[in-house]
Amino acid sequence: MKLKDKIAVVTGGASGIGESICKAYSQEGAKVIIADINAEAASKLAQEIGSNSCSYEVDISNRSSVIKMAKQVTSEHGDINILVNNAGARIIKGFMQHSADDWDQMLAINLSGPFHCSQAFVPNLIRSGGGVIINLCSIASYIGRPNRCGYVAAKSGLIGLTRAMAIDLSLKKIRVNAISPGMIASPFNQSFAEAEETSDTWASENLIGRWGAPDDIAGAAVFLASDDSEFITGSDIKVEGGWLYGRARAGEVPMWDS
Ligand SMILES: NC(=O)c1ccc[n+]([C@@H]2O[C@H](COP(=O)([O-])OP(=O)(O)OC[C@H]3O[C@@H](n4cnc5c(N)ncnc54)[C@H](O)[C@@H]3O)[C@@H](O)[C@H]2O)c1
Repeated sequence: MKLKDKIAVVTGGASGIGESICKAYSQEGAKVIIADINAEAASKLAQEIGSNSCSYEVDISNRSSVIKMAKQVTSEHGDINILVNNAGARIIKGFMQHSADDWDQMLAINLSGPFHCSQAFVPNLIRSGGGVIINLCSIASYIGRPNRCGYVAAKSGLIGLTRAMAIDLSLKKIRVNAISPGMIASPFNQSFAEAEETSDTWASENLIGRWGAPDDIAGAAVFLASDDSEFITGSDIKVEGGWLYGRARAGEVPMWDS
């Protein structure tokens, strides 16, 4: 088991990618702390995982809520080893349709949330002798996407934050990395994965030719949390089926001699 005796906090762990990460960490021997705004779903998952898991309600966009949760976790479980900043949300509206509140919300959840959670748990990780932080970025950390200006800006910021934190926390033996998923058929993207116009088209846009599943992300999350990646920090694993760098133009298909 790669994470035996480790304690991991997974924000947004109650659904989709976070849920898969929680289950994978538990299978690898970690105690899993599910921190989610959806207390009911988080508690249900903790019960499903079993005795080595528990849940806390938190709104990562609210610094006081994060500090309160981190204090509770520390007093009840001691110092943690792994923090996965996974919770995220997305507003789909045109640039001019984004209200100031929409913009603030996108930055608060997707960029400030990981900042608050990391600051709240870094003293904890230091006391553990070092540790790991993983930030869930996105293909939107690398390119523009239509009707998602707040989300794209926040996720682009998060990849920068990942690199900056990796430098600042290196002295304390804390590695900081990112995972950038592509199109994953979690509740976040369920409507697109099911809709006739997008289901097959979006699947065919990557080189593997299918939608990603939340479990596709879990392997990268285990790797980055374990000692197998001990020489990796300030980096990013793209789990997107080659969507970002493997583009072909219309009418341009790979040649194959059989
Ligand atoms: N699904 C994809 O295709 C995809 C692609 C790229 C990046 N991502 C990123 O991966 C991460 C996980 O996405 P997912 O697909 O599992 O989404 P999801 O919607 O299935 O799950 C998100 C979880 O975060 C929780 N959450 C939302 N706001 C919160 C808050 N303020 N405080 C605490 N918890 C909160 C939700 O309750 C939910 O449990 C997100 O950061 C998302 O941006 C997802």
